[in-house]
Amino acid sequence: MATRTINIGLSDREREGSIGILNAALSNAYLLLIKTKKYHWDVVGPQFMTLHKLWEEHYQLLSLSVDEYAERIRMLGGYPVGTAAGFLKYATLNEDPGDILNATEMVTRLVNDHEEIICGLRSAIDKCSDDFHDVGNADFLTGQMEQHESMAWMLRSFIEGESVQSNGQVPSVSAVGIPAGV
Ligand SMILES: [Fe+2]
Repeated sequence: MATRTINIGLSDREREGSIGILNAALSNAYLLLIKTKKYHWDVVGPQFMTLHKLWEEHYQLLSLSVDEYAERIRMLGGYPVGTAAGFLKYATLNEDPGDILNATEMVTRLVNDHEEIICGLRSAIDKCSDDFHDVGNADFLTGQMEQHESMAWMLRSFIEGESVQSNGQVPSVSAVGIPAGV
């Protein structure tokens, strides 16, 4: 991805490293935005209105998020991916065209996608900080990761307690952080 030289205390290599991470994150956020919007349209069942409204909130957050990614890339002197083909090329998430899912399966897939993004961002934050000395980008990505953690928690709360997930596994509910006997 083309960049121009700017003087913000980062080498070209460091800036280009951060820009590459941002473009991958932008692409993943865009794919998740599309999937969330599709499920907002498709969902049926007793939880229709709750999920329909929740996913509207989530795709609005994701829409702001992709704008922040793109504008941060410009701040670093780079150019954001801006085509559907580009988003598919740089994203690690997969699309699931043609699948007709029930509400639980939709929630499960979105939880998995948010968790994949969170794990990827966690590694990216370390890389930006340790390899590219770009603490601004590490801070920015931390905020994005926290937003995904919040969305994943809301979605996860729908399927915890369900008897069987779409992959046939019983969802695990761990009591991390709760003192013994409480
Ligand atoms: Fe809508």
